[in-house]
Amino acid sequence: MGMHMGGRGFHMHGEDEDEDAVRKVPDRVIALRLLQFPLKYKWNTLLMIFTSVIQSAIALAPPLLIGMALDAANPLNEINSQLFSLVIIGFAAVNVLTFVTTYINRYMTNWLGGKMEYDLRSTMFKHMQKLSLRYYADKEIGGIISRPTNDVDKITELISSGIIELMSDLITLVGITLVMFSMSVDLSLIAFSIVPFMFIWMYVWGGRVRRIYRETRKTIASVSAQMEESVSGIKEIQTFSKENETRREFQEVNIRNMDANVEATRVMGAFWPVIQIFTAAGQTLILYFGGKSVIEGTITVGVLFTFMNYITRFFQPIQQLSMFWNNVQSAFAAAERVLGILDTPIEITDPPNAYELPPIQGRIVYDHMTFGYNKDISVLKDINLVIEPNTTVAFVGPTGVGKTTMANLLYRFYDPLEGKITVDGHDLKDVKIESLRKQMGIVLQDPFLFSGTIMNNIRYSRPEASDEEVIEVSKAIGAHDFIMRLPEGYETDVRERGGRLSIGQRQLVCLARALLSNPRILIMDEATSSIDAYTELIIQQAMNQLLKGRTALVIAHRLSTVRNANMICVIEGGRLAETGTHEELLEKGGLYKTLFEMQFKEAGTSLPTTNNNQKETVPASGSK
Ligand SMILES: Nc1ncnc2c1ncn2[C@@H]1O[C@H](COP(=O)(O)OP(=O)(O)OP(=O)(O)O)[C@@H](O)[C@H]1O
Ligand SMILES: [Mg+2]
Repeated sequence: MGMHMGGRGFHMHGEDEDEDAVRKVPDRVIALRLLQFPLKYKWNTLLMIFTSVIQSAIALAPPLLIGMALDAANPLNEINSQLFSLVIIGFAAVNVLTFVTTYINRYMTNWLGGKMEYDLRSTMFKHMQKLSLRYYADKEIGGIISRPTNDVDKITELISSGIIELMSDLITLVGITLVMFSMSVDLSLIAFSIVPFMFIWMYVWGGRVRRIYRETRKTIASVSAQMEESVSGIKEIQTFSKENETRREFQEVNIRNMDANVEATRVMGAFWPVIQIFTAAGQTLILYFGGKSVIEGTITVGVLFTFMNYITRFFQPIQQLSMFWNNVQSAFAAAERVLGILDTPIEITDPPNAYELPPIQGRIVYDHMTFGYNKDISVLKDINLVIEPNTTVAFVGPTGVGKTTMANLLYRFYDPLEGKITVDGHDLKDVKIESLRKQMGIVLQDPFLFSGTIMNNIRYSRPEASDEEVIEVSKAIGAHDFIMRLPEGYETDVRERGGRLSIGQRQLVCLARALLSNPRILIMDEATSSIDAYTELIIQQAMNQLLKGRTALVIAHRLSTVRNANMICVIEGGRLAETGTHEELLEKGGLYKTLFEMQFKEAGTSLPTTNNNQKETVPASGSK
């Protein structure tokens, strides 16, 4: 689609929704896999199909019965009052049966659709929870979310109501054809002489209708993508005063959508009336030739009535069948995207013979470890580092050098490409992930809180903790005061992503959350934005206490943290450039000294706020 915002060339989602996209999985494979869902509920599916067959079959009866009644009661014929009563009873019975089967069929269709939706969504959700961070790293949230929602809708619609419609259309067509031919071959041939013209029309105009509808879907996708990004980026848009420009861009896609809609109405507007003309032509022919036959006495009035009625009903199923293939195509495209998620292997998972990590001391070893987010670009190269239990290690280095990556690897969000990481001698890859992560706590650089109260957010790491324990931890790290100043204290709702709190406050809450579970290993990726000097002092005092008795990895952006660490690791160019204490490294006069003088010293207590969005400026790949 090539849509751009603010001229910055953002890639918009909605593109992977494109139905023209070449599908890789053969139809047969998709069909077989989709059929597994209704097959899970064999009896319900059978009942649904059965009622649908009955329903469409008996829907053919009324015109026939009315025709018979007309003939039976026609004074020109020999009046057959017994047949007449029978037909009337039959007519009533048909209506009762229609009601019963329609009800059961509707209920079963929706029941099955609902069940399938539920099944598919929970299966997907379960799988999506386990997919690695690598999978999500390069995906648009909107694109991913549309799969368990819109795509699943499309699939269940096809399987529950689509297939039933197909069946009933076929039954109607075949049924009408059979009955008509059995009543009068001549009249049937006259009626069907219209069909070829109708097909030509549907083929020619139907193609246009499909194309224009595809266009309306594409343009509305652009409209919502544009809308979505403008809302999430509203701060940036206003910061750079791009409101007018953004509005103009929106206007453009909005106009394209309107044009497509108008065009769709125009094209579609001609479609049905022409079909109706064909139907009317068919009726006229039947009325003329049928009427003549009635006068000649070759057919009865009842037969003519039945024919007139059937011909009106004949063309709708044809029309629906011609559209059915498109629905199949779009549902299959949706299915491919859904299966794409379900078939993505879970990268980080317990090996078959994984064992519980016993309670650890917290001795961490990076052993000839090499890692890159892509196989060919290594971020960290041949890292050898031993972190003794109960020590605090600070990682420092330029932005984008791989400090956060070091932490990601220890948490086993990713696996090393070469070498290994061990905790107390256990290779991370050998132990059960849960037993590893349970003993660690992490405060991410980009702190995330769930919407809900502060209390519940802190308790997230140990749900059984009491209110008192939560308050105690918050006091220990100096978060209690600011929390109490909030309108509802610990019961304050922080809103989506913790949007009501400042970034520093969010980090404090995250720190409390990490500490509540009393982890043996604590990883703290300091936010690059600085906390005020007073808060920093409080945190620092608390940290000295809290870090004692555990192994701590601190990715430091603050002088105080660095200074108090037992060991400082300077990362540069993907390698460990220097290690030592603050004094040792200053004395050595190497990289740390330069860094210190450049960044820490003049900033006083904090590093200058390095902007995270500028990571690409230092793609510290370790290759030399
Ligand atoms: N999910 C990812 N996929 C691909 N590359 C990534 C990913 N995350 C980080 N990188 C790249 O890996 C390198 C190291 O990133 P990392 O986040 O570890 O840097 P950092 O040292 O923590 O930087 P900062 O001080 O800005 O937080 C960067 O060049 C970055 O572009
Ligand atoms: Mg980082």
